[in-house]
Amino acid sequence: MTKAEVFYFSYTGTCERIAKFLGTNLNLPIKKIKPPRLPYLAWLALSFIPRLPIPSKASLPQSENLILIFPKWTINCPPITYFYLLCKKRGVKLNKILLIVSYGGFREEPYARHYVKKFKDLSDEIKLFLIKKKETEEKLLSLLEWIKKNLEI
Ligand SMILES: Cc1cc2nc3c(=O)[nH]c(=O)nc-3n(C[C@H](O)[C@H](O)[C@H](O)COP(=O)(O)O)c2cc1C
Repeated sequence: MTKAEVFYFSYTGTCERIAKFLGTNLNLPIKKIKPPRLPYLAWLALSFIPRLPIPSKASLPQSENLILIFPKWTINCPPITYFYLLCKKRGVKLNKILLIVSYGGFREEPYARHYVKKFKDLSDEIKLFLIKKKETEEKLLSLLEWIKKNLEI
């Protein structure tokens, strides 16, 4: 069993870039959370509805630790809310969860804190790393070090 898995949801490719960078550099499995295809305006509207899950293709975490990368969407990211509910329903318990939130530049803190609180149902130890979209490339190495430190790898 690997030390952790990298799960991600990405709509425009930023979180996918982060997931692939981390998975490749740390030699960890990368797993995609795949919602149905919807146009941008539909996602934008859905992202305003609190706690709404949208059923998505996702496997369950198999390792003791989870790295989860997803975008900041208004007040709700329905594929991630679905993934959280799926894990909760299946009784997933993890040692540590490292949440990485990619954002454009607007109200990322309360959004991220909201997900930290949710994921506490699955683990006693949640860590958060916020990464601004336009600083992604320059922050990748410090993110990698942060993961290594937190997972002791
Ligand atoms: C539906 C939608 C809503 C968004 N809402 C916000 C927002 O409220 N605040 C913000 O900083 N960025 C917002 N963004 C921008 C994304 O968080 C940012 O572009 C992120 O890097 C996208 O990651 P991705 O390329 O992996 O999809 C939104 C993007 C989408 C598609």
